[in-house]
Amino acid sequence: MRPDRPILLSWQGRSSLDDGAAASAHGSVELHRSACGAGRYLFGDNLAALDELRQEERGTVALVYMDPPFHTNRVHELVETGDRSAPKSARERKTAFDDRWEDRASYLESLGRRITRARDLLAPHGSMVVHVDPKTSHYVKVMCDEIFGEECFASEIVWRYRRWPSKTPNFQRVHDVLLRYRKDAKAKPRWNQAYEPLAASTRAVWGDTKQRAVFAENGHRSKSSVTEEASLGVPMGDVWEIGVLAPMSRERTGYPSQKPLALLDRLVTALTDPGDTVLDPYAGSGTTLVSAARLGRKFVGLDASTLSLETCLARLAAEGLPLVREAKEPLETNAPASETRLRAALTAGSSQPDAPKKASERVARKRSA
Ligand SMILES: C[S@@+](CC[C@H](N)C(=O)[O-])C[C@H]1O[C@@H](n2cnc3c(N)ncnc32)[C@H](O)[C@@H]1O
Repeated sequence: MRPDRPILLSWQGRSSLDDGAAASAHGSVELHRSACGAGRYLFGDNLAALDELRQEERGTVALVYMDPPFHTNRVHELVETGDRSAPKSARERKTAFDDRWEDRASYLESLGRRITRARDLLAPHGSMVVHVDPKTSHYVKVMCDEIFGEECFASEIVWRYRRWPSKTPNFQRVHDVLLRYRKDAKAKPRWNQAYEPLAASTRAVWGDTKQRAVFAENGHRSKSSVTEEASLGVPMGDVWEIGVLAPMSRERTGYPSQKPLALLDRLVTALTDPGDTVLDPYAGSGTTLVSAARLGRKFVGLDASTLSLETCLARLAAEGLPLVREAKEPLETNAPASETRLRAALTAGSSQPDAPKKASERVARKRSA
């Protein structure tokens, strides 16, 4: 039999997705780390950050969750959540990140390079989840089949949510697509079985206890029997109904396209064990980092947006996990005390010294709301 001929996604001028030279052009990264070593945040372009991580941490990560911009061709803004009585249009807005692209090919090339690098960081039992929307998911799936190998495709999860009804002459889009790939199809994957509730019709007939399959002598299945043991539910399927963050939700940071903790908690719990490392190269508001920290996993977040940096630092500090910027150069010990304090304060802050304070005020306001 003829071996399968690889099917590749092609576009004019396509270059290698593992172009080493490209990363160095993306500048340096600034490391922020928790004292206990549980978490890190690398501020800067994730291509350069992934290259740095690839040198030291190949094969160590249990889960990579990627939620890149969706190729919306817009600039996304953070809306201050402070004064809730003010209408959204009157609240302060700041640019969080730019999702404008020359064309779809440049978007895919940029994403493909990052997926290729992040894949190298995965442990053999690890997996990557790429969160996209239905306008892009088919392209990304073909590209991931090429990067990982088709045999590593594990599932396409449909995240279904409710949103404000619109009256466009189309079926309203109420789902995102999460593509899950395993690093190594032959290795035993990290897997903690999740369950969903029994269907109402099943409960009506069988109650809440486990059923046992019964087979007749001819091997055909006959009527199941009921046991005394409480049912855990049915193994989780690949369509997940989880609410998006409500406008007044306490979880909301104001960062655009913030995902709900419930979504990340489900992925992190199922695909990692306590003590494992979770990497989010598009950290945004830090949902993955908070989820991982709360569930006893180590986390690494990457992002190039100053507002992401401030929001993540503030959210993690509120979790009791302050991250401190790691000084590249040792501080001079013979400097006057006031200067040393000033340098230490600047080193601990972001490149915009007053920014983290504003974000922590935002998080504190929300927690007391
Ligand atoms: C859709 S948001 C992620 C939202 C996040 N999952 C959450 O729950 O808040 C995408 C993020 O990717 C970041 N990003 C886009 N391109 C990047 C790049 N080349 N390097 C680092 N971060 C990037 C943006 O700054 C933005 O914060």
